Amino acid sequence: MAPHTKTYDVLIIGSGGAGLTLALKLANAAHVAVLSKLSLTDGSTFWAQGGISAVVDAQDTIASHIADTLDAGAGLCDPEIVRLTAASGKQSIDWLRSQGVMFTEEQNENGQTQLHLTREGGHSHRRVVHNADATGKAISEALIARARENPHIELFENHNVVDLIVSDKKNPQLQKIQGAYVLDTQHQQVETIAARIVVLATGGANKVYLYSTNPHTSSGDGIALAWRAGCRVANMEFMQFHPTCLYHPGAPAFLISEAIRGEGGHLTLPDGTRFMQHYDPRAELAPRDIVARAIDNEMKKRGIDCVYIDISHKPAAFVIEHFPSIYEQCLKLGLDITRQPIPVVPAAHYTCGGVLTDSHARTDIPNLYAIGEVACTGLHGANRMASNSLLECFVFAERASIAILQQLPTTPLPSAIPDWDESKVSDSDEEVVISHNWDELRRSMWDYVGIVRTDKRLSRAMHRVEMLKAEISEYYGNFRVTSDLLELRNLVIVAELIIRCAQLRKESRGLHFTTDYPETDNRKLPQNTVLKP
Ligand code: FAD
Ligand code: SIN
Repeated sequence: MAPHTKTYDVLIIGSGGAGLTLALKLANAAHVAVLSKLSLTDGSTFWAQGGISAVVDAQDTIASHIADTLDAGAGLCDPEIVRLTAASGKQSIDWLRSQGVMFTEEQNENGQTQLHLTREGGHSHRRVVHNADATGKAISEALIARARENPHIELFENHNVVDLIVSDKKNPQLQKIQGAYVLDTQHQQVETIAARIVVLATGGANKVYLYSTNPHTSSGDGIALAWRAGCRVANMEFMQFHPTCLYHPGAPAFLISEAIRGEGGHLTLPDGTRFMQHYDPRAELAPRDIVARAIDNEMKKRGIDCVYIDISHKPAAFVIEHFPSIYEQCLKLGLDITRQPIPVVPAAHYTCGGVLTDSHARTDIPNLYAIGEVACTGLHGANRMASNSLLECFVFAERASIAILQQLPTTPLPSAIPDWDESKVSDSDEEVVISHNWDELRRSMWDYVGIVRTDKRLSRAMHRVEMLKAEISEYYGNFRVTSDLLELRNLVIVAELIIRCAQLRKESRGLHFTTDYPETDNRKLPQNTVLKP
């Protein structure tokens, strides 16, 4: 083994809710490394607003959480995965509180303190545990603090994984994961990290679209890494568009939480008229796919740039108490949400598909696990219900920890990993290729593979993606890797997987809507779209 190789029991790629939870659960028994592409807080988890769905109210039931999730998932959820996830909600919340995560509380009518529960689309009960409208910040800060004080966890910021290291690549029977090549972006040097077990906790792929609620880290790296290593990927056509992203030219994308609708906010046209009742009896509380499509339809039909979400009919004190971050963010832009409606548009938000895993987060390749948004566990089916994503992170981190702890004693350290070879590449002299292709890819995906699709749009998009892929591959072969190049190389693979899945689904279901097949086809059992490398 080369002298500079670092070695760990478990290498976790990603420092969001999924990665940090797993690290903390393993740290008593294993030496763990956690990598983050940028700073530790730079994933989606930090930005989560609404909260975590969990059955903690005596009036609510696990059966009801299961039924709502299955309904939102439009026939494609795995019922057993839904059951075990919903059943673990309270345990996840208790664990987070034990790690110091604070949630919003209230006094009940008997004067006792209890968790305040908010409501979001698709949920038939109030069951979303939250910290005002900044739940992700509360979770991230507490888990990072716990991880920092744990001597068995090493945290690495600015470390971007280039590729997974797979043994016996030519013999699928003997293949296993041995570690990863990682670009230390501060020193611009590729390191080799060896590990008995590697876990992908890299989040989603929503930056493949021009407009997204996600931070820059969501470039689908984990999906592309697993795909290149030989794992199956599933259900990539189900990219979720959040209905309400702030529309303010000049301001960065900012989510306007679904909890605003849950607490009584109305969606309106520019003249103040509500419209959701024409699309679904649940009106503003319909699941996201329905609301996003309705907004898209109203915008296209009327030629308007945005619609509005209005909570100004509620008392100002209520709005400020429940939504302090949204209130302040909008106020900075000159918009007082206690008095004015908020201009909003849909934007890419969540990747329902991903690396196919079993109920303990194992992928197709021995010693490689996937947890959190990067994984396709079967929980979300064709459309994720609000606040089920954070829950999935905690439940599957716990389940992965059980499998990993069982496996570790009999999993040897990898031997003889070849070093990263950059003898045949030079520094790039044409960075413009990256910025141009990055823009072209994300615009093509937005224009042709968005909320409403057609066969023609999909084949247009595929044509462009094939050209971009060839160009990026040639560039990758000639020049030293940079973070931008790595992300672009991953995004183009993810784009191709999304289009291929969308082309295979000859019906409309959940988040995949095509005017060529506008109906849901229930003639045979609904199938996942599974792609093999
Ligand atoms: P992330 O939190 O995204 O973390 C990914 C990590 O992987 C980061 O540390 C990143 O640096 C690292 N990484 C990625 N690629 C590489 C690489 N190549 N090398 C090294 N490291 C890498 N869900 C809910 O359930 N409730 C909500 O209220 C909610 N609100 C949301 C609000 C917003 C604005 C957004 C964007 C999402 C929201 N979601 C919500 C979705 C939810 O936040 C995410 O699905 C979830 O946090 C994903 O967690 P994760 O740990 O899988 O990934
Ligand atoms: C939101 O607060 O609207 C986001 C919730 C989610 O994505 O689950």
